[in-house]
Amino acid sequence: MRCVVANWKMNLTKDEAQAFCEDLLGRMAPESEAEVGIAPPFTLLHQVSDLVRPRGLQVFGQNGHAEAKGAFTGEISMPQLRDAGCSGVLLGHSERRQFFGETDVALAKKVKAAWQWDLLPLLCIGETLEQRDAGQTLDVLAQQLAILAETGPGPLWVAYEPVWAIGTGRRAEAAQVREAHAFIRTELNRHLAGTEYRVPILYGGSVTPESFPELLGIPEVAGGLVGGASLDPRKFAELVKQAG
Ligand code: PGA
Repeated sequence: MRCVVANWKMNLTKDEAQAFCEDLLGRMAPESEAEVGIAPPFTLLHQVSDLVRPRGLQVFGQNGHAEAKGAFTGEISMPQLRDAGCSGVLLGHSERRQFFGETDVALAKKVKAAWQWDLLPLLCIGETLEQRDAGQTLDVLAQQLAILAETGPGPLWVAYEPVWAIGTGRRAEAAQVREAHAFIRTELNRHLAGTEYRVPILYGGSVTPESFPELLGIPEVAGGLVGGASLDPRKFAELVKQAG
């Protein structure tokens, strides 16, 4: 199974989302076997899920709170995401970690809350440039995955997103992706030993239709989490085609 997920971040309005979805669906071959997801901003969830879920696409929230409800101004809960048509939720995106202080402690709670509300967590992990330069990449990945010791096993997708490759146009080299994905697989096998869960590992960070075929050829790369290129329906449809 190959997966391609669009992370729209804080982009698009109602009319733009409508035009995007119509354009994308018009370009998608019905026989495509790729698992395709879109993670729109919260305000567009209902609309996008009404448009794309009938065609078998998944819809992800970009974040979700661990509590089901309460006095958390500006937050959104897992049951609210479900109610808006989501089947999954991005958790631990590096922009959440960097700019909003998201911690592994909070993420363990969020993963459990997602499962409780039947949402598929797409857990994002990855090292900063400083950490890579200091030779800490694998330690950082192991630490970010260690929340699975806390959560226990469950259905999960993981995205390896080197922070220095996100939105920079600087994609990680094949050897770096190969090493990171192989390591993540080993860690996942350890955490999920004896369970039925098989976790696809997506790559994210400046994925484009030019770079995606090579990435898909790397062992343990099950697809892509795509920011910039996912805002253009023509490019995103091309990525879906390459994955399908
Ligand atoms: P990018 O973003 O494709 O624009 O690098 C990827 C992401 O943040 O998930």
